[in-house]
Amino acid sequence: MSSPIQPLVFAMVGLPARGKTYMARKLARYLRWRGLNARVFNVGNYRRERLGSGQKADFFDPTNATGVEARRRMALEALDDVFRWVRGGGEIAIYDATNGTRERRDLIVKRCESAGVPVIFVESVCSDPALVEENVRETKISSPDYAGIDPDQAVSDFRARIKMYESAYETLGDDETHRSWVKIVDVGRQVVANRIGGYVPSRLVYYLMNLHLAPRDIWLTRHGESAFNVKGLLGGDPGLSARGAQYAKALAVELPKRVQGTPKLWTSTLQRTVNTAKGLPWEPLALRALDEIDAGVCDGWTYALVKERMPAEFAARKADKLRYRYPRGESYQDVIGRLNPVIIELERSKQPVVIVAHQAVLRALYAYLAGRTPEECPHLEMPLHTLIQLRPKAYGCEERRFPIPVSDF
Ligand code: SIN
Repeated sequence: MSSPIQPLVFAMVGLPARGKTYMARKLARYLRWRGLNARVFNVGNYRRERLGSGQKADFFDPTNATGVEARRRMALEALDDVFRWVRGGGEIAIYDATNGTRERRDLIVKRCESAGVPVIFVESVCSDPALVEENVRETKISSPDYAGIDPDQAVSDFRARIKMYESAYETLGDDETHRSWVKIVDVGRQVVANRIGGYVPSRLVYYLMNLHLAPRDIWLTRHGESAFNVKGLLGGDPGLSARGAQYAKALAVELPKRVQGTPKLWTSTLQRTVNTAKGLPWEPLALRALDEIDAGVCDGWTYALVKERMPAEFAARKADKLRYRYPRGESYQDVIGRLNPVIIELERSKQPVVIVAHQAVLRALYAYLAGRTPEECPHLEMPLHTLIQLRPKAYGCEERRFPIPVSDF
């Protein structure tokens, strides 16, 4: 997925507390990680900015003419901003609003057609009241709409707001089969895709199909120090140094103490990660997608040698570490591209996942998980002999780092 692409609007559809904002933000993060210019336009934020955040449930009553008019105005302001942004070079706009009536969707389609930007609706349907309740409790009571309000009062007002929307809600259905849409029922249990074609839309539907909200940790670690690390050499398939072997021993003691349940354990196919994971009590899976960035003709060289023998290459890499591709090797951008299936598997997994891999590869994975830009990716801190625990949350990712001193083992 690299530019230039045909700009697109993804318009969310769904009752409140159905995970629309969660999906919208995840989609934007994923697209940005893949190098596309993506942005979320949240209509609720327009309301809060224009009217303040004090609206109670009756503001959302479809029979409240003032509320209806105000909400329509905010929705159209946000849509105008979408088109302005696209004209300025924006690629994928994610229009995050309820868009829960046929009339509202007709209006969106009409405006998108006039602006020459195709629109795909993404509906989130949730038939499990427990999941809706959990979402209300987890995300809505901390919404700026309820700042300073007693949590029970906030929950009860939000439930009343949902009821208001329910009374007018129309799901995507048989009378909209001429449009492009995808309906995701119960966080991926069922997915209906209608008139979805083209590379970017199909990839995004595939991505959305694999999302879930079950809490689990993702553990990242580089391999223990390798014989090449000691000499400052790039790439290769060296074994572990004595310190690296100590790290593998320490990891086998420390990691099982911290991981809850039985994780999936993934390594690259290179000896240094396979040997680092050897003492762990879980079945490893060696994935070529996790192999270190390919340094091409510079494999086995030091940076000093690259500078001496290929000064122009050295300078080009320094100027743009994200896009620079080693001769007959890879760039960070190439690494991000080949990690896509790993991201899908990570999203899909309900078990914890432990990944023992390499600096560039872990930077790329971490950039996705922590919502960092591709530009930041080649510069992220990814030290040796450090365990990183990431816990994906509804709107972000909690992180803890545990350096493991090898001298203790
Ligand atoms: C909101 O004002 O919170 C959202 C408006 C909508 O999408 O219905």
